[in-house]
Amino acid sequence: MITNETVAPLYAPALVRSLARAAAVVETITLPDGEAHKSWTTLNRIFDVLLDKRFDRRCLLVALGGGVIGDMAGFAAAVYQRGVDFVQVPTTLLAQVDSSVGGKTAINHPAGKNMIGAFHQPRLVIADVATLATLPPRELPAGLAEVVKHGFIADVGYLDQVEADLPALLAQDAAALTRAVAGSCRIKAGVVAQDEREGGLRAILNFGHTFGHAIEAGLGYGQWLHGEAVGCGMVMAADLSRRLGWLPDDEAARVRDVVRAARLPVTGPGWTPERYLSLMEVDKKAEQGTPKFVLLERLGRPRVSRVDEAPLFETLRATTEQADARPAGATGQ
Ligand code: NAD
Ligand code: GLY
Repeated sequence: MITNETVAPLYAPALVRSLARAAAVVETITLPDGEAHKSWTTLNRIFDVLLDKRFDRRCLLVALGGGVIGDMAGFAAAVYQRGVDFVQVPTTLLAQVDSSVGGKTAINHPAGKNMIGAFHQPRLVIADVATLATLPPRELPAGLAEVVKHGFIADVGYLDQVEADLPALLAQDAAALTRAVAGSCRIKAGVVAQDEREGGLRAILNFGHTFGHAIEAGLGYGQWLHGEAVGCGMVMAADLSRRLGWLPDDEAARVRDVVRAARLPVTGPGWTPERYLSLMEVDKKAEQGTPKFVLLERLGRPRVSRVDEAPLFETLRATTEQADARPAGATGQ
């Protein structure tokens, strides 16, 4: 079982007890916490233990934690002795609705996030919403960004349900959380089943991410949580979709209202459009330096496209704190 020093004291004992009923040997590997440790050095600690304890290819890796642990344990499983099985036990909302499903595994390289990795599907994902009770307060809205994203890109009926459930979700109502986790996994798994390796369709899962990555990179990773940046990025992408004459005004306004109701930022840092563009161009999903955007023709109908600078710059002026020279905070709404 692979976990980190924050999650281990909370949930490792119960999981170890449960695993011990089924496995001959259960070994716990506790890694340091944080995105900074999603690295070769930390990954090697997993291999050191597995080799030292002589685990062979019949071993099963179990990831207990958020997306950082899931991505790292999944990558370890993809390459240990040319591939072993793994199970995801995600304990953040983001991991339960997004990163634990779909088989993307990776570590970071100094040149970029998630640059070294593999597609490797978990045999099983067990999401227990009771674990979310101990999350730091900003993590729940950050996970909700990916929940509402699934509604925006794929299923207006699901969006209606999530929008109505938002107060209950923010209050950690177990039934509402279970509906959101199940609904998001159904939508994400449906997309991944059609396009596992991101040849095309899977890119729609990156709605809000081109703008969001620019915000994360420009502020320095960790200033805004990924979900906070994606929340704001979705408002920007909806605004751009509206300016292109695709998304109706009321639907773009709905995107902003839902993001705000999820307690996520709806206004980006007040940088020049040129600075945003340069930050987008280093986004790994950009091809030939020209950013691609996931936009909306209607709610539930995404379209991936490059755009002219003029409407993009209009969006960047309209959705960022252009009039405010202070640095934007994580709740810059
Ligand atoms: P995280 O794993 O860093 O978890 C956030 C914090 O919450 C950490 O400090 C963690 O120790 C703590 N934590 C986790 N569960 C807890 C709990 N139940 N109670 C208390 N604290 C808890 O962050 P995250 O948002 O879960 O994941 C982000 C990572 O996921 C990034 O590395 C990103 O690249 C990756 N990701 C991967 C995919 C994918 O498809 N594979 C998709 C999205 C994001
Ligand atoms: N989080 C985007 C994807 O899984 O493709």
